[in-house]
Amino acid sequence: MSTIFWRTGAVFGAAAVGLGAFGAHGLKKHVSDPQKLANWSTAAQYQLVHSVALLVASNNPVAGALFTAGMTMFSGSLYALTLDTERFRFLGPVTPIGGLCLIGGWLALAFGKRGAGMRWPRP
Ligand SMILES: *[C@@H]1O[C@H](CO)[C@@H](O)[C@H](O)[C@H]1NC(C)=O
Repeated sequence: MSTIFWRTGAVFGAAAVGLGAFGAHGLKKHVSDPQKLANWSTAAQYQLVHSVALLVASNNPVAGALFTAGMTMFSGSLYALTLDTERFRFLGPVTPIGGLCLIGGWLALAFGKRGAGMRWPRP
């Protein structure tokens, strides 16, 4: 399980940098609303930070699951809403739920078992 979270965090981190770069360049050809571009940037920043958090949390299954679900829902819904607000309007309520999952992940790190130091997997 910890290896899956480790790999997920690393892949999500790579994707976050790519999506952030796209938001700073190519996306501007399709989206002009600065608030939408700001939302995209927020999504990429939260994804990047929580990708690192997922590496740290990879030996804590509760935190790992919450970070994975939270990034997917929070950042994923913001990306979708930026690309096509009308089509993905139903994802509006998903963003704050994802945010709550991210908060829950940090709290799971705060109160979960940590063992004798962090034991990161060797993938
Ligand atoms: C940006 O995201 C927020 C939710 O985090 C949403 O309420 C707002 O409508 C979005 N803005 C635009 C222009 O899509």
